[in-house]
Amino acid sequence: MPFYNTYPGFLYRQFLVCPSKAPSTTSLQGKAGIVTGSNTGLGYQASAQLLGLGLSHLILAVRSISKGEAARKSLLASLPASAKVPVVEVWELDLGNYASITAFVERLKNSSIQVDFALLNAGVANFNFTINQPTFHESSIQINWLSTALLTLLLLPVLDQQATGSLNLPRPVISIVGSETAAWAKFSEAQVSTKEGTPLIKVLDDKSHFDMGDRYYTSKLLYQLFFLELFGHRSNAKRSTGAILNLVNPGFCYGSELHRTAEGAFGKVLGGMKRVIGRSVSMGARTLVHSSVLAGEPSNGKYLSDNRPASFAGYGDSGPGRVTQVQVWKETLSELGLVVDIDKLLAQI
Ligand SMILES: NC(=O)c1ccc[n+]([C@@H]2O[C@H](COP(=O)([O-])OP(=O)(O)OC[C@H]3O[C@@H](n4cnc5c(N)ncnc54)[C@H](OP(=O)(O)O)[C@@H]3O)[C@@H](O)[C@H]2O)c1
Repeated sequence: MPFYNTYPGFLYRQFLVCPSKAPSTTSLQGKAGIVTGSNTGLGYQASAQLLGLGLSHLILAVRSISKGEAARKSLLASLPASAKVPVVEVWELDLGNYASITAFVERLKNSSIQVDFALLNAGVANFNFTINQPTFHESSIQINWLSTALLTLLLLPVLDQQATGSLNLPRPVISIVGSETAAWAKFSEAQVSTKEGTPLIKVLDDKSHFDMGDRYYTSKLLYQLFFLELFGHRSNAKRSTGAILNLVNPGFCYGSELHRTAEGAFGKVLGGMKRVIGRSVSMGARTLVHSSVLAGEPSNGKYLSDNRPASFAGYGDSGPGRVTQVQVWKETLSELGLVVDIDKLLAQI
């Protein structure tokens, strides 16, 4: 295992590495972007930093319009009086509901907005087993893996088209917020699935296999395995002229609402640990700004951490891991095939 993916590697980064701010000369004037889950936490902080760099048009993609409006108001209020007032819009996007995801992308397609980047930041860390009612899948699996995969797949052809339509401009970027915890996932559900010949999604939806300490890590690993397969399925032409895809790790941060379901003594211990080991959410958000608007071409297909490429979790490097990675890809497509014309979508990416 590379040092990066070990616990000492994690502690080294948390205590000794400080991702730098975007250079003050960076100008995002004339650029437009989307940030999902931007009403709070890392998404909010990244939005503030992007606007601070002069971003002209920002879409706050949020599941609660009222929270989005409050964020919009506070983001605009925090800009210096001398700044050119950007367009900040609040669009509904509920990752718990496939129809909301398809409607969001349709709205984008029907608008005349040329998106320079989409930062897919929304995510959950559920410490309780919760079923996402519209789809009947366990919530963290739904949001962090399946729904984020659908959003990625639907946005890809839209941004690819923009990339090829504006040859002299930098290629648009889809940056997805992952986590270094993917490398620590026990992911024992994969063994159960193989042993019992049961689909992985079915095993993950079974409460008896829910490990509260591992599920978030596993959900982030599942998206990472999907990402690797997706990039592998891109044609050479799309890889070299289409949208740029990267996965970013912000590091362990305090000051966000990610662990809102950690209650009682456990919540207090986790909160204390975050204050000791964690970096501020504003520092973590620097890495999201970097992956969306600074990393560019060299970041295509890469996993970024502390503003530079780092090692993926390495799960698919072993024979059995590779088999599971392909299974994850196939199961993602068959699940999303219930919602969209998946063959048509795959032919476009
Ligand atoms: N904080 C860390 O230490 C850390 C470390 C590594 C990676 N990350 C990743 O960073 C991302 C942001 O996390 P954070 O720490 O900023 O957490 P956060 O403060 O809880 O923010 C999460 C955002 O996602 C949104 N969201 C949750 N469920 C959604 C849904 N069904 N549809 C649409 N939006 C939804 C939330 O909206 P509501 O407010 O309406 O719920 C919120 O805006 C996540 O992907 C997380 O996994 C965080």
